[in-house]
Amino acid sequence: MAASGARTAAIIGGGVIGGGWAARFALMGWNVRIHDTDRDAERRINEVIDRARAAMPGLWDVALPDEGRISFHDDLAEAVEGAEWIQESVPERLDLKHEIYAAIQGACTEAAIIGSSTSGFRPSELAEGATRPGQIVVAHPFNPVYLIPLVEVVTGPGTGTARIDRIRSTLRDIGAHPLFLRREIDAHIADRLLEAVWREALWLVSDGVADTAEIDDAIRYGFGLRWAQMGLFETYRIAGGEAGMRQFLTQFGPALKWPWSKLTDVPELTDELVETIASQSDAQSGRRSIAELERIRDANLVAILRGLKARDWGAGRLLNAAERRIGGAPRSLDALSLTSPLPTGARAVPLDWSDQNGHMTEHRYLQAFGDATDRFLALVGCDDDYIACGHSYFTAETHIRHLAEVRAGARIEIDTRLLLAEGRRLRIFHRMWEDSRLVATGEHMLVHVDLESRRAVMPPPELQDKLARVAKAHAHLPEPEGAGAAVGRPPERQPDPQE
Ligand SMILES: NC(=O)c1ccc[n+]([C@@H]2O[C@H](COP(=O)([O-])OP(=O)(O)OC[C@H]3O[C@@H](n4cnc5c(N)ncnc54)[C@H](O)[C@@H]3O)[C@@H](O)[C@H]2O)c1
Repeated sequence: MAASGARTAAIIGGGVIGGGWAARFALMGWNVRIHDTDRDAERRINEVIDRARAAMPGLWDVALPDEGRISFHDDLAEAVEGAEWIQESVPERLDLKHEIYAAIQGACTEAAIIGSSTSGFRPSELAEGATRPGQIVVAHPFNPVYLIPLVEVVTGPGTGTARIDRIRSTLRDIGAHPLFLRREIDAHIADRLLEAVWREALWLVSDGVADTAEIDDAIRYGFGLRWAQMGLFETYRIAGGEAGMRQFLTQFGPALKWPWSKLTDVPELTDELVETIASQSDAQSGRRSIAELERIRDANLVAILRGLKARDWGAGRLLNAAERRIGGAPRSLDALSLTSPLPTGARAVPLDWSDQNGHMTEHRYLQAFGDATDRFLALVGCDDDYIACGHSYFTAETHIRHLAEVRAGARIEIDTRLLLAEGRRLRIFHRMWEDSRLVATGEHMLVHVDLESRRAVMPPPELQDKLARVAKAHAHLPEPEGAGAAVGRPPERQPDPQE
C-alpha cells in the first residue's frame, strides 16, 4: 500500500457516488481521506472499493501506480486539511451542501478544488454564501464512478483559467473525461437527455404500451449499442446516407412536429403507477440481488470499454491516451540490468479475462505471454519499425504451465529469460508472478522470418549482436524450473556433477 509523496483527495459523503470517487482516486495512486456521518459508511465503501479493484485496473494493459492509502475520518476538517481535491457527494439537498462547503472552506487550503457531484444544482446555487465562491465547481460523475469516464464540469465566473487547467489535468490524471459545460443549466447535459428518455419511459408504462423489460430491451438490443460508441449526432449522420446530416434533418425533421413525444408533460407518480413499475421491475430483475447486478454491470462495462480500447475509439481512445501517460515496461535494453530476466509485462487481470471458475481463463495466459514476447522482441530491436521493414519472428511452438489461480484485478508481472539465440531460432522462457507467487510459465520457440517470402532467414548482424549480449548474460542464470518440460512430464533433470 502507498504512499508517501502521493497526492491527496478528500471525499465528503461516502455513498454510492462518494465510494466510487474514492475508488477511482485510490486506484490511480492517490491517498484518499473519507468523511461520512454514517457509521455504516466504511463497510459500504469497502464493498465498492473491492468491486472497483476487480474491475478498474484491468481496463488498461499496463500496471497502474501502487494503490493509495484510504483512511476514514470522523472529523471533516481533518479529512480536508491539505487535500488537493475535495469531492462533495452528500445527498442532493442545497441546505446540506451549503453547510458542508462552509465547513470545508474553514479547513481546506485556498488552492484546493472543491468538486460537487450534484446531479442538478448549478455552481452559482452551490456557491451562495460561500467564503470563496470560485473554489466550488460542479464535477458530476456517473455510476459506477470507477468505470464510467465522463465527469461533467460546470465552472462559474470566479473559477479562473488556472483552476480550470488544474481541474482538466487532475481529472485526466485519474483516467476521467472532463466535459466542460459552456454555461450553467439545471441538470447539466447528460441528465437532461436522460430525463427526457426517463419521462417517455414512464409514459409508456403508465399508458400500458410496454413494461419495464420491453423498454430496456428497446435500448439494449438497439440504440443503446449505437450510443455507447458514436452518440446521437454521429449515428444520425450515418442514417442520412451519403448526404449526411442535412439529408437526415430533411427526411426526419417533419416527424418532430408529429405528436410522438410527450416531452415535458410528466405522468403523475400515483401509488398505482409506482406499484406497476416496481412489480414489473421485480419480475424483470428480481431473481438477482443488487450486488449481483452490480457485478454483471461492471463486467459488461469492462468488456465494452476494452472492446472500444482495441478499436481506439470513443471512451476506448481515452483509455489508450491514459495508458500512454502511465507508461509501461522500459523500451530500451540499456535501461535494464541483464543479470536477471528482463521485465516484459506488468498489468492487472481484466474482469473479462476470468471464466466461470472465477479465475483467469486459459487463452488469456497466451495473450499475456504473447504481449510479453512482443515486448521482449521490441527490447532486442525487433519492434514495429523493424517489422515494417520486412522481417519479424513467428512463434513455432508454445508450452504454458498453469501453476496457481489468478483472479480478476490481480496484478501480474512477467519476466523473460533468453534460453537460446542460435541462427534463425530463439527460445524464450516467461515467468508470470502475482507478488512473489509464481503462477504460470510460458516457453516459446520463435523463428526469424522474411515477411516477403514467409520463409525462415537469419536475423541481421545488429539483431544477432543484441541477442548474443542478452544470451551471454542470461547464460549465467540458473536453468529456470520447468524449462524444457513436456506436457504431463517434468523436464529431464540435468545430472548433478556432485552425484
Ligand atoms: N446515485 C447516482 O446515480 C448519482 C449519479 C451522479 C451524481 N449523484 C449525486 O451525488 C451525490 C450523492 O449521491 P449518492 O447517490 O451517492 O447518495 P447516497 O445517499 O448513496 O450517499 C450520500 C452519503 O452522504 C452521507 N452524508 C449525509 N450527510 C452527511 C454529512 N453531513 N456529512 C458527511 N456525509 C454525509 C450519507 O451518510 C451517505 O453515505 C448527490 O448530490 C447526487 O445528486 C448521484
